[in-house]
Amino acid sequence: MRASIITSILAFAASSVTAQYLNQSAPFYLVLSSRNTSFDGVSLSTCHEGAAIEGLCLGSQLSNTSVTYTFNTSSFLTPDPVLGTPGSLNYELEGGNFNLSSPMTISSPITTNVAVPLFTPSESFTEVGFDNENKLYVYGTIDDTVSPPVYKVQAFYRWYVCLTNAGYTYTTLSWVVGPHSPENPSCQEVEVKRVFA
Ligand SMILES: *[C@@H]1O[C@H](CO)[C@@H](O)[C@H](O)[C@H]1NC(C)=O
Ligand SMILES: *[C@@H]1O[C@H](CO)[C@@H](O)[C@H](O)[C@H]1NC(C)=O
Ligand SMILES: *[C@@H]1O[C@H](CO)[C@@H](O)[C@H](O)[C@H]1NC(C)=O
Ligand SMILES: *[C@@H]1O[C@H](CO)[C@@H](O)[C@H](O)[C@H]1NC(C)=O
Ligand SMILES: *[C@@H]1O[C@H](CO)[C@@H](O)[C@H](O)[C@H]1NC(C)=O
Repeated sequence: MRASIITSILAFAASSVTAQYLNQSAPFYLVLSSRNTSFDGVSLSTCHEGAAIEGLCLGSQLSNTSVTYTFNTSSFLTPDPVLGTPGSLNYELEGGNFNLSSPMTISSPITTNVAVPLFTPSESFTEVGFDNENKLYVYGTIDDTVSPPVYKVQAFYRWYVCLTNAGYTYTTLSWVVGPHSPENPSCQEVEVKRVFA
């Protein structure tokens, strides 16, 4: 298990890992900030994209009834002074007689540069974190903008809100793959912040 964790951390810039990340944070809300005032202060809620699959949709202005999330880390990792410790962003799916902690995964699509982050009941997830301003980032470890690629820990903040279809057509939190502008014309750039409940 440890070997496969290390292999996957070294292999992918925005790594998807399978690991026991069991140190869970207190619940928090996710709130957007944006130059576009339509989204500033809006909370993220979850929306049905498939069986037990949830996307992140626009909620109302942040309030104590907004949806909460948690963040799990592994005690094997040493925190970075600015970036903290990477881990999984989780949503607790409530079933009839069970609750299931589902981590967020961003699967990189091959025909568009706009990806839709999804909570799925899974062992694997996309490594993300919260920086010292509580801003959500995706954790990268390989820089391939130089040749040969080098190991370099970096935080990426390529968050947008776009009209997407990952099962249903919704305005969702989205991730742009690579440094260029999103090809989807509806996308508006946002930052995602954690506010503890
Ligand atoms: C997060 O940690 C809690 C507490 O250890 C655990 O119950 C839960 O399953 C974990 N969630 C994920 C997605 O790993
Ligand atoms: C803000 O976003 C809305 C919804 O996508 C869009 O209609 C509007 O043009 C945007 N405003 C600015 C100033 O970009
Ligand atoms: C939630 O906020 C409302 C209005 O601000 C307040 O009346 C209520 O007591 C709060 N509830 C909790 C559980 O904090
Ligand atoms: C678990 O996380 C808390 C903060 O969220 C931290 O204080 C504690 O040291 C962590 N424990 C381990 C074993 O990493
Ligand atoms: C699931 O979570 C909700 C809200 O935290 C709680 O009220 C409920 O009792 C939980 N259900 C189970 C089966 O643990």
